[in-house]
Amino acid sequence: MSTFQAPKGTYDLTPPRSATFLAVREAISAPLRDSGYGYIETPGFENVELFARGVGESTDIVTKEMYTLTTKGGDQLALRPEGTASVLRAALEANLHKAGNLPVKLWYSGSYYRYERPQAGRYRHFSQVGAEAIGTEDPALDAELIILADQAYRSLGLRQFRILLNSLGDKECRPVYREALQTFLRDLDLDEETRRRIEINPLRVLDDKRADVQKQLTDAPKLRDYLCDACKAYHEEVRALLTAAGVVFEDDEKLVRGLDYYTRTTFEFVHDGLGSQSAVGGGGRYDGLSEMIGGPELPSVGWALGVDRTVLALEAEGVELDLPATTSVYAVPLGEEARRVLFGVVTELRRAGIAADFAFGGRGLKGAMKSANRSGARYTLVAGERDLAEGVVQLKDMESGEQSAVPLAEAAAELAKRLG
Ligand code: HAM
Repeated sequence: MSTFQAPKGTYDLTPPRSATFLAVREAISAPLRDSGYGYIETPGFENVELFARGVGESTDIVTKEMYTLTTKGGDQLALRPEGTASVLRAALEANLHKAGNLPVKLWYSGSYYRYERPQAGRYRHFSQVGAEAIGTEDPALDAELIILADQAYRSLGLRQFRILLNSLGDKECRPVYREALQTFLRDLDLDEETRRRIEINPLRVLDDKRADVQKQLTDAPKLRDYLCDACKAYHEEVRALLTAAGVVFEDDEKLVRGLDYYTRTTFEFVHDGLGSQSAVGGGGRYDGLSEMIGGPELPSVGWALGVDRTVLALEAEGVELDLPATTSVYAVPLGEEARRVLFGVVTELRRAGIAADFAFGGRGLKGAMKSANRSGARYTLVAGERDLAEGVVQLKDMESGEQSAVPLAEAAAELAKRLG
């Protein structure tokens, strides 16, 4: 193994591709920031207990995919596999829900860790931008979040994504359905592990990818037929609000999701250009999670969009983000005296808010001009001994190729004027 290799299932973000990741994070969070969501940041690890209770003891995430560790002090920690439990924990700890301003609307962006089998679009370290709206039961809140995710994806230029929508019922109707489903599943011809799953998390069996299992599930009881009136009405309202907003969605009864905390509304954003790891984002309502982790009753809803997969989706659709060059002016000094003078000009430009860079390392004109080109700068400043003797610098417009001598003392002001 090479020393210069990132751990299995991980990769580094390096320029220029890393700029796309930043732009995606920015684009996903922009609609949230404009809609009353405040930024929250929580630690990269939590007590293991939080996820065991929150995400669910029966989920793959908790049983197979968590990076757990025991500290020297004996604490049992886990690298966070997802953000919702942490954000809710932090909101409760800070008593945000008691400030008399519900829902508490929060957004976050960060790294998450799951020990999964790596494949295209599935990594052990990945990045999400997420949103949680805590403490309010209102179908408009569910609709708001789905609309904002749709808006974010559209603003990036994505078109080939679909929204799958379902309702998982609540603590009244879901247990009744669960039992009916278990009764049905126990009579089927299934392997040991799946039989165990029937007892722990029967809804996950519906998600089984194997054709022979799916064939046996044709007549399985449908959750739709078990939803209580309150859940039905709630779901209809979410659907109506989405439709009124012009957001197209597909009802997907099979949408179960891999985390245990969901109630009522669940949804997933899938992209058709990504192969098997097609979910670019997902979320839903989690009315019972606060109580599951020891808090008060706080009905909530949220989502997380995967930044890695969103970037892959952009690449799959051939969308090139319009990322302006980061450097506007590139300075190329020829000789020691020019280095000091142009370094001063670059500092002045930067302080004036103009993005500028400098040919470091005393390089020759040719190599330095190559770097100037690569930087994407609109202008270069070149100065040698003779220019300095005349009190000027050469200002070159990299687009038109035009070059003119500008008095040194006016160079920064002239550039500021030209760059508007
Ligand atoms: P999730 O569906 O587990 O939901 O993850 C959300 C998104 O994170 C996925 O759709 C995917 O884009 C990305 N993702 C998940 N695992 C990986 C991986 N191994 N490699 C690359 N990308 C991945 C949650 O995490 C919930 N906390 C969402 C939520 C927020 N529900 C309510 N509020």
